[in-house]
Amino acid sequence: MKELPASQAFRLLEPGPIVLVTTVGNGKPNIMTMGFHMMIQHDPPLIGCIIGPWDHSYGTLKTTGECVIAIPTVDLAEVVVDIGNCSGDTVDKFGRFGLTPQPAGDVKAPLIKECLANIECKMADTRLVEEHNLFILEARRIWINPGREERRTLHHRGDGSFTVDGDVLDLRERMVKWRHLQH
Ligand SMILES: Cc1cc2nc3c(=O)[nH]c(=O)nc-3n(C[C@H](O)[C@H](O)[C@H](O)COP(=O)(O)O)c2cc1C
Repeated sequence: MKELPASQAFRLLEPGPIVLVTTVGNGKPNIMTMGFHMMIQHDPPLIGCIIGPWDHSYGTLKTTGECVIAIPTVDLAEVVVDIGNCSGDTVDKFGRFGLTPQPAGDVKAPLIKECLANIECKMADTRLVEEHNLFILEARRIWINPGREERRTLHHRGDGSFTVDGDVLDLRERMVKWRHLQH
């Protein structure tokens, strides 16, 4: 085995689906790109998100306690990267990138119509925000676009390169201890 610097851990662990996070501050909707996130708990469903103070979204999320996590697919790849390379401080990202905000059910942050799925979230725990920029959010409602043909998600390799969903390996019959997770 060849040793890598510990600082490169994110290159191995980051590749969950890259997501977009919407928030609303002073009536203005905004979007950022986020690769650092993780599921924390099934019930209630808790999601950990790293959103740094360098992001306009940080202040908005802290103030409002609400956001939407939207899951884009491969057809939106360039837009996803560009959204993460400009700031809601100066840019109307919905307008610039031709995305359509749709009203959510329980939060003011909008869903993104062009995405495969949207998860409405409310703040569950802010204790680690100051120290680690870690927001613990509870998923309240999920909206899926069942008619969408392109369903392959993007997985960030930490440097602006991505892998794209490929073959599905179905090993559900071996999940004997975890049957209750299958619906
Ligand atoms: C592929 C990609 C992944 C990113 N992941 C994160 C992340 O996990 N957390 C974070 O705070 N910023 C992340 N960023 C950076 C923000 O998206 C970027 O700072 C953005 O400009 C913030 O937008 P805002 O200022 O409008 O909130 C990522 C950017 C890219 C391109």
